[in-house]
Amino acid sequence: MPRISVTVDGVTYEDDVEPRLLLVYYLRERLGLTGTNVGCDTSNCGACTVLFNGRSAKSCTILAAQADGAEITTIQGLARNGEWHPLQKAFNTEHGLQCGYCTPGMIMSSVDLLEQNPDPSEEEIRHGLEGNLCRCTGYQNIVKAVQTAAAEARQEVTS
Ligand code: FES
Ligand code: FES
Repeated sequence: MPRISVTVDGVTYEDDVEPRLLLVYYLRERLGLTGTNVGCDTSNCGACTVLFNGRSAKSCTILAAQADGAEITTIQGLARNGEWHPLQKAFNTEHGLQCGYCTPGMIMSSVDLLEQNPDPSEEEIRHGLEGNLCRCTGYQNIVKAVQTAAAEARQEVTS
């Protein structure tokens, strides 16, 4: 069994993992980090999105064994000192969720999106999040939430 060393939300874990274990199940079942959801298991929905070495990735498309040496951030590692991340706040204030199932993945993809492009157009946001499916919101308020978080982040940089 491969032995991995992986840092998740700032904590380093050493574990023996089955070669076929998917990263999303390692996070949820071995580490108990159930904030990362499984919607499809087949790389379609994006509910399982995490940051993998700083870039968004669907954790059902990665083997736990491939995460050896990696740094992973899940939705549960985004808040700082008890304060929500600006995107978490914006999804709340702009009502960017209904059932909330897609939300962890939406937010993690949005973190990467704004990292790459701090001032995205509506079209760029929709394009950036096209790998994340939401069956409830119609996407409009998700786009608004990302715009709000982006505007706030830009304001912080200039103030
Ligand atoms: S659970 Fe990974 S993309 Fe749907
Ligand atoms: S809020 Fe229900 S799937 Fe997106």
